[in-house]
Amino acid sequence: MTMSARPALRPIRVGLLGYGTVGSGVAEVLVANREEIRRRAGRDIEVTRIAVRNPARVRAQVAATISVTDQPFDVVRDPAIDVVVELIGGTGIARDLLLEAIAHRKHVVTANKALLAVFGNEVFAAASRQNAIIAFEGAVAGGIPIIKALREGLTANRIDWLAGIINGTTNFILSEMRDKGLPFDEVLAQAQALGYAEADPSFDIDGIDAAHKVAILAAIAFGIPVQFDRAYVEGISALAGEDIRYAEKLGYRIKLLGIAKRRPAGIELRVHPTLIPTRRLLANVEGAMNAVWVKGDVVGHTMYFGKGAGKEPTASAVIADLVDVTRMLTSDPENRVPHLAFQPDELSDATILPAGEMETSYYLRLRVRDEPGVLADITRILADGRISIDAMLQREPDEGEGSTDIIMLTHQTIEHRIDTAIHHIEALPTVLSKVTRLRVEQLN
Ligand code: HSE
Repeated sequence: MTMSARPALRPIRVGLLGYGTVGSGVAEVLVANREEIRRRAGRDIEVTRIAVRNPARVRAQVAATISVTDQPFDVVRDPAIDVVVELIGGTGIARDLLLEAIAHRKHVVTANKALLAVFGNEVFAAASRQNAIIAFEGAVAGGIPIIKALREGLTANRIDWLAGIINGTTNFILSEMRDKGLPFDEVLAQAQALGYAEADPSFDIDGIDAAHKVAILAAIAFGIPVQFDRAYVEGISALAGEDIRYAEKLGYRIKLLGIAKRRPAGIELRVHPTLIPTRRLLANVEGAMNAVWVKGDVVGHTMYFGKGAGKEPTASAVIADLVDVTRMLTSDPENRVPHLAFQPDELSDATILPAGEMETSYYLRLRVRDEPGVLADITRILADGRISIDAMLQREPDEGEGSTDIIMLTHQTIEHRIDTAIHHIEALPTVLSKVTRLRVEQLN
């Protein structure tokens, strides 16, 4: 039993756009945890309208008090709706609905990372003009409250960098390839069957989904506009099983990381397969789990771990946003937490550095003729480029084959220097393959 002297406030009325996995999760958890949520929010939060393509299917699943329609614009224009929850996804009709909701001074909760990554600046500007709140905890790393942590919990810090496993599908694929030695295609099919993958799985495996998310995180971490279009993006489809195995031998694990790093000349914003030391916590985040590592100047290193997708984890994030919106309804707009953590007129115009200016270490694998002087030629080219070698591995040559694999780790350098060195190495007559190049991060 709880005791309260507060006057009873009417419930907050939510219009839900989309009733797929996450939408049904939101509606169900709002009912299942109603009392707990009411005690926190100070009033009930109820779904009163749902817009979906096939209303008959949903009517059979929800309480008769909820009105179900196939007209989403009616919901966002409905004066009786306080908050719109957009769970349609994509950058098509979802964008029109969001802008229409804002035009009708609705507050919006969305889990739509693609929309915010591509049109976020436009959406936030429109929302600020209308004093509307856009809350989007569910857009990045599902159930992990990383937006809240970055925007509020770490607000005393100058964030130096963050690195995250923010796409469950690719992490699942990489874990299965390494653990079970399974080929890429087979594991991707499993990830699709398990429901982790995006509707278009190329968004996952080509790194686009992770880039959407890291562009949003970088904006909040550094107080810059959302700049997905400036991110360097490389996925995992070209990754060979042998690189996963060689990395293990060198004490590293390969993860698809979204990285945002502050450098004196600008900001690095990148997504690519990355070797990280096996002893790091992040290297041990396996399967479809997500984790984000943040380095702040005051707090030091922090890490956030949890389920990055799925019905209940994402519902957890969406409902946290609904409670936040409920609490902020009566606050002055200028006293609210800004959408991107920093006041809109305080956003910085720091440059996103081009790929050639990125600074990191590298893993190189190449097939060479097994004869004297080959290694000397390669190391001379690296030395000429002022690239220092950190570790090296040579595969036992195959009987009678006359060739072998050389694997090298370099110290930190600038990307254009390694590109030039690779160009010269590939021109050596003793080098029999293209050079496989992966980036290495020590995360320290
Ligand atoms: N396809 C995404 C993933 C879903 O695999 O992480 C969550 O955004």
